[in-house]
Amino acid sequence: MIKGVIFDLDGVLVSTDEMHFMAWKRLAKELDIKNFTKEDNKLQKGVSRMESLEVVLRKGSKLYSEEEKVELATRKNNYYIDLLQGLTSEAVLKDVIPTLEMLRERNVAIAVGSASKNALIILEKTGLSKYIDEISCGLDTSKSKPDPEVFIIAAKKINLAHEECLVVEDSLAGIVAAKAAKMKTLGVGPEYKQLGADYESLTLQSQVDWNEILNQG
Ligand code: BG6
Ligand code: MG
Repeated sequence: MIKGVIFDLDGVLVSTDEMHFMAWKRLAKELDIKNFTKEDNKLQKGVSRMESLEVVLRKGSKLYSEEEKVELATRKNNYYIDLLQGLTSEAVLKDVIPTLEMLRERNVAIAVGSASKNALIILEKTGLSKYIDEISCGLDTSKSKPDPEVFIIAAKKINLAHEECLVVEDSLAGIVAAKAAKMKTLGVGPEYKQLGADYESLTLQSQVDWNEILNQG
């Protein structure tokens, strides 16, 4: 029986993916990397800020020291935070609110399991905080997805066994991480068919039978 749902944040609950892309693109341009595309951006989904930076730097030829890399990641984050200032409830993705309300009604625990260190501000600005019982984010972890750490911490925070948790993800790294933690998985978003999740659906409601998911096992 599924007693808790752990949601990824970027690309699952909110449409911040586009802002991440714009901020990385701006940095890439400054570094004279002109061919940074949406295809490259797909490789950044679910992984940490520093690993996302490597995806950008691989597109160029210049080598950077660790110190310089930290400066570049900070610069990108400042661009991203600027974009986040304009974030409102409009960024909440389709079907999210009815799904969260349905889960609350059924007394299913709701957690966020995100690589982002900006999770708190995003949840506040979009008005989603009130639905979330616990947050496990980039500030809690030392290893990033596909390592299962972020989901293991989330399950611990909502006091559930891994088998009692469903992870909802839009990234391959996230699905691999959840499976490594022996949690059930629901893959959503534009690449939902390529994630290898136990359940697949474009949005949180389009192809999902929540009765079946919650009662399985
Ligand atoms: C994930 C995003 O949710 O968070 C990644 O999918 C991003 O693209 C990662 O790199 C870290 O986010 P932040 O907000 O801490 O830079
Ligand atoms: Mg995501």
